[in-house]
Amino acid sequence: MLFQQNNTNEIEINRYPAPLPLADDASGFTIIQLSDFHLGFGRPEPLLNKAIELTLSLNPDLIVLTGDYVDSHSQQIPLVKSVFSPLRAPLGVYATYGNHDHRADPPVLKRILTDIGIQVLNNSAVPLPAGLWLVGIDDLYEGNPDIEAALSEPPLDAPLIVLSHHPGMIRRLPDRPIVMLSGHTHGAQIRLSFPSPELVCWYHLRTRYVSGWYHLGQRHLYVNRGLGITGLPFRYNCPSEIACFDFKPKEAPDRLDKKAITEESLTVD
Ligand SMILES: [Fe+2]
Repeated sequence: MLFQQNNTNEIEINRYPAPLPLADDASGFTIIQLSDFHLGFGRPEPLLNKAIELTLSLNPDLIVLTGDYVDSHSQQIPLVKSVFSPLRAPLGVYATYGNHDHRADPPVLKRILTDIGIQVLNNSAVPLPAGLWLVGIDDLYEGNPDIEAALSEPPLDAPLIVLSHHPGMIRRLPDRPIVMLSGHTHGAQIRLSFPSPELVCWYHLRTRYVSGWYHLGQRHLYVNRGLGITGLPFRYNCPSEIACFDFKPKEAPDRLDKKAITEESLTVD
């Protein structure tokens, strides 16, 4: 039973309609989010290579990465280059820092990500099609988050897609149309009935948001379980995740099915 639930090498693809309506005449687009890679801990390269291959096979318009590229120190940063180099998307590939990246060397990491065509959004924003803006805010507790700077460019009425590693950032954001994509928790990584994933994440990570969707007024938070592992060298009852979001016109948030519309899983050999 124990080994049946060990899904350290399993990747689940979860696909959702995004709870942000686009203008009537806008073209839809798809975003894939990957998170929490932890290069340097537990040799995650085969799983990460497979996840990137799967991501590209889904032909997303935009790819976003929500932090923890490395596990703990700057010597792990060179691993980033070979793993993430294949990532390409028509609207770009964007990244924010995780708390573990701040334990390494964020400027060096930024230089390597930039060299391979990945733009780091650190308290900054870029416009997207259909009047949306993509915003990146630094990690809540180990980074230097500056919400005011991050939101200085987007118009006040623009719907926002916010990338921020720690899910607790959602409570610091203004109540306006926002989809925030985060990671950090690994879905608790080891999911037991006791202590519960909620208790584990609250005790260790200071967050009540464990995995999946949370809705706070006009703000919608998605917590990605991530791909890598840290602390303990396995996952239990908690597979790695690729999250895919379809942004479409004329989809009212209250009419959306907030459950996954597709779920697939596979195991990396
Ligand atoms: Fe992480």
